[in-house]
Amino acid sequence: MSTIIYYEICLDRITNEELSVNNKIINMALIQVKNLKKQYENEEIITKVLHGLDFEISKGEFVAIMGPSGSGKSTLMHILGFLDKPSSGEFMFANKNIQDLTDDEMAETRNFDIGFIFQSFNLLPRTSVYDNVKLPLLYSKLPAVEHDKYVRDAVEAVGLTHRISNLSNQLSGGEKQRVAIARALVNNPSIIFADEPTGNLDSKTGGQIMKILQDLNEMEKTIILVTHEKYTAEHAKRIIYMKDGNIHSDSKVTNRLIIHEGEELAK
Ligand SMILES: Nc1ncnc2c1ncn2[C@@H]1O[C@H](COP(=O)(O)OP(=O)(O)OP(=O)(O)O)[C@@H](O)[C@H]1O
Ligand SMILES: [Mg+2]
Repeated sequence: MSTIIYYEICLDRITNEELSVNNKIINMALIQVKNLKKQYENEEIITKVLHGLDFEISKGEFVAIMGPSGSGKSTLMHILGFLDKPSSGEFMFANKNIQDLTDDEMAETRNFDIGFIFQSFNLLPRTSVYDNVKLPLLYSKLPAVEHDKYVRDAVEAVGLTHRISNLSNQLSGGEKQRVAIARALVNNPSIIFADEPTGNLDSKTGGQIMKILQDLNEMEKTIILVTHEKYTAEHAKRIIYMKDGNIHSDSKVTNRLIIHEGEELAK
């Protein structure tokens, strides 16, 4: 068997962090962050937000990032999702140092590998569910003849096929959030970032969203979820707790909560 085929088989099966082939260690971390710092500067003031973070996230993990308001959760998420750049430190994505990537390469990774779900949905108003979900495909290299299928599959995955022609402003909050998830999924990204995806929803719709995220994680998608609520975070497999721009704790979830069809997400 050729080494490449062997690698591919192992990569399909692997869930832990490292793989040894011919005594060579291949690091399976999808994200590696070393001494990552971020500060915002304007004429009068420098705001130091992230003070030197170190952690790794492997393929297939489901990580919740918790912490008080202002602790730097969204800032970190934007950097990890290629929406912003760190001020210093190292950030490796799929074993590539992002400092070495051009802006075009960064945009390409963002369009291909990353799906983003925002708390405020960020849907185009007066635009159909179909067209909102299709939007990321306009920037992708996936063949145009397949776009219709990708859009319909993503809308079906979040249970909104019956609303596919509705305008986004004709939807409930939970439906809007599901459209945002479909839009994040349509490119078949390897990693999905969700910033407070259940924060604006009632507990029943929050439960639907968390169920979709757990199902996606079962399908090997890496999920990184920001939440204020401990109960919500306990649906993840690991919790990174941030405080004042530092990692205060980083631990596995023991007694992880699994949500079932129709169950509510308690607050
Ligand atoms: N563009 C910016 N310029 C200056 N300061 C900023 C900027 N963006 C964020 N900050 C500051 O960085 C800190 C962290 O913000 P961030 O949005 O990451 O917090 P958060 O943990 O996501 O909070 P929340 O739970 O309220 O969403 C805050 O003190 C915020 O005021
Ligand atoms: Mg935030």
